[in-house]
Amino acid sequence: MDKRILLSPPHLSGEEEAYVREAFQSNWIAPLGPHVDSFEKELCRYTGVPGALALNSGTAAVHLALRLAGVRQGERVVCSTLTFVGSVNPVLYLGGEPVFIDSEPGSWNMSPEALQRALEEMNKENRLPRAAVVVNIYGQCADMDSINQICRRYGITVIEDAAESLGATYRGKMSGNLGYYGIFSFNGNKIITTSGGGALVSQDREAIEKARFWSTQAREPEAHYQHCEVGYNYRMSNLLAAVGRAQLKVINDRIERRRCIFENYRRELSDIEVIDFMPEAEFGRSTRWLTVLTLEEGCGIEVSDILSNLAERNIEARPVWKPMHLQPLYQGCIYYPHETGRSISDAMFRQGICLPSGSALTGEEQQRVIEGIRSVFSR
Ligand SMILES: Cc1ncc(COP(=O)(O)O)c(C=O)c1O
Repeated sequence: MDKRILLSPPHLSGEEEAYVREAFQSNWIAPLGPHVDSFEKELCRYTGVPGALALNSGTAAVHLALRLAGVRQGERVVCSTLTFVGSVNPVLYLGGEPVFIDSEPGSWNMSPEALQRALEEMNKENRLPRAAVVVNIYGQCADMDSINQICRRYGITVIEDAAESLGATYRGKMSGNLGYYGIFSFNGNKIITTSGGGALVSQDREAIEKARFWSTQAREPEAHYQHCEVGYNYRMSNLLAAVGRAQLKVINDRIERRRCIFENYRRELSDIEVIDFMPEAEFGRSTRWLTVLTLEEGCGIEVSDILSNLAERNIEARPVWKPMHLQPLYQGCIYYPHETGRSISDAMFRQGICLPSGSALTGEEQQRVIEGIRSVFSR
């Protein structure tokens, strides 16, 4: 059996051990510590966002952002439907009600048209949402100028879910700066990793300090552990921040490598007419965190045919995220498609395949994936 090819495994820079060794030598093993502070500063420097809070997951960052936005029991939050469940579950933690918005075809991210329709309707009912969780899927930013403009009109706080888009740009601006709050994930499959972790960022440093307080059990500055508000145990540990610092140093190389991998897949499969690739919208530069191809509907080959052929060759590939409005957990939630009767995210889910895209993927391994796809068409 050939060696397993994974979808997006961690890619170490080689400096991680030195950073972690330093943490051991200083005995700074316990939560927080100098690597956490430095990681936050370095993340601010890289993204240009003034305030950052390192956390133990991206999901925790979404939770804190929603609480900062003031989401309370029974309140609505508009959310991108084409995403991973971690973007949306925190709405339920707060007792809120997600309302799902479809993708637009140009970027696969939140459709400004559907958002506009949704907010007009909710405004008429006097049930406007408190916040919007806008996801940048697979390394590409959403059309944030349009989305921000619409949300501003209705007084809605925008949370940029940049879990998958660290290092991407939108009209020259770095991802993380595109909403009132931004969140990142450093989960093991992301473009850089701390093994598990996340961050909340914002230009509003006061808000970041409030979230810092909540993320450390909302402990009041008293020796006897005084608590007036509910808090969480959400901080990143010093050991993991040490890993993150070494990873952040190589982020630009990782982006260029993933973009090359994307281009290679596209070039090598360009003669198969029924295969297309996730578009890159003119407004930004994607990191191509994952390469995603789509199959023309009705072409006679199904996503499952390709996935199972790759699996037989010990290659991990995946369908596109199953949209949240199709999840049993979110059954009954309101959903606004891009156009009446036309859901883009449903089509992406039916037709899309995420290919192995790790930045350490070799040319030979990529060739194995390409052959695995081509062989389905030559049967
Ligand atoms: C779009 C998106 N949002 C949120 C998350 C949650 O991040 P974490 O896994 O670090 O909690 C992820 C992925 O992991 C994600 O892909």
